[in-house]
This record gives sequence, C-alpha cells and structure tokens, in this order.
Amino acid sequence: MKIITKSLIGLAALTAVIQFIQPDRSNPEVTADFDGPEPVKTILQAKCYDCHSNETIWPWYSYVAPVSWWIADHIQEGREELNYSDWGNYSAKKRTKKTEETYDEIADGYMPLKSYLLIHPDTEVTEAELAIIDDWAFDE
Ligand code: HEC
Repeated sequence: MKIITKSLIGLAALTAVIQFIQPDRSNPEVTADFDGPEPVKTILQAKCYDCHSNETIWPWYSYVAPVSWWIADHIQEGREELNYSDWGNYSAKKRTKKTEETYDEIADGYMPLKSYLLIHPDTEVTEAELAIIDDWAFDE
C-alpha cells in the first residue's frame, strides 16, 4: 500500500476510535439564576449563556471528537470563571466584581470568544447593548 493510503486509513481509524471518548456535556440544574434587569439578562442569555451558565445549547459538532473536547473545555472553564446560573449564590463582593468584569470583557473585545463569534456572528455585542450593560454595571 502507498504510504498515503496507509496514513488515511490510520487517520480514519483513529478518528473513529476517539469518538468513544466523550466529554461531560451535562447542564446542571439552575438554582440561582442571574436576577439583574431584564434587558441585561436578555443580552447575556443570547450572547454569553452558552459558556457562562448551566443552560448551554450543545450543537451537533459538540458531539464530534476532537472538537467536542475543545468546546467542552471552553464551557467548563467559562463556567468556572463566571456562571450566571450561580449568580444568586455569589457574595455581594463577588457579584460586584463579576458585574464590572462583564462590562470590561465585552468593552475590551475579549468576549464572546473569537472562535465562538466565527460560528455565531450574531452574538457580537452591539454598541447599544454595551450601553445597556454599562448603565446596569456602573449605575449612571
Ligand atoms: C465560547 C464560550 C464563551 C462565550 C460565548 C463567552 N465566554 Fe466569557 N469566558 C470563556 C472562557 C473559556 C473564559 C476563561 C478564559 C478566558 O478568560 O479567556 C471566559 C472568561 C470570562 C470572564 C472572566 C475573565 C477574567 O479575566 O476573569 C468574563 C467576565 C466573561 N468571560 C464574560 C463573558 C461575557 C459577558 C460573555 C457574553 C458577552 C461571554 N463571556 C461569552 C468562554 C466564553
């Protein structure tokens, strides 16, 4: 067999085998959801909840390794940093910090993640939406 044929068969076999390694795609129960103003919540739900809540919508490609591992990793890390489904359990101090960070991360162009924006271009936060978050976060 030609080396290229062998390689392709090897790659196909490997791709098949890794499908057995499935990441944790659980959505834990929401017990203390974000309770800020409705317009702010609507924005966060549409643009951040896939990685920062327990209400992740897992797309079909999140079932296909190795992409699935990469996505699950982002969501795990995202939830660890900030989980709007846990908002009510945060201390007042932590809520204040996460409120400011919510604004900062968007204003600085870090969130939503670039890779996510590529696939979900409609989740880019608009100027008008950022102004709504600004009013909520800084109260003036
Ligand atoms: C595709 C998944 C994804 C989406 C969508 C997403 N984030 Fe994140 N976010 C992450 C990950 C992963 C991290 C942790 C690593 C990092 O900071 O890059 C993070 C970190 C954060 C942090 C903490 C940063 C820090 O330095 O402590 C904040 C605040 C944040 N995101 C806000 C948002 C907001 C607001 C939105 C929506 C406008 C959003 N994220 C959308 C994945 C995401």
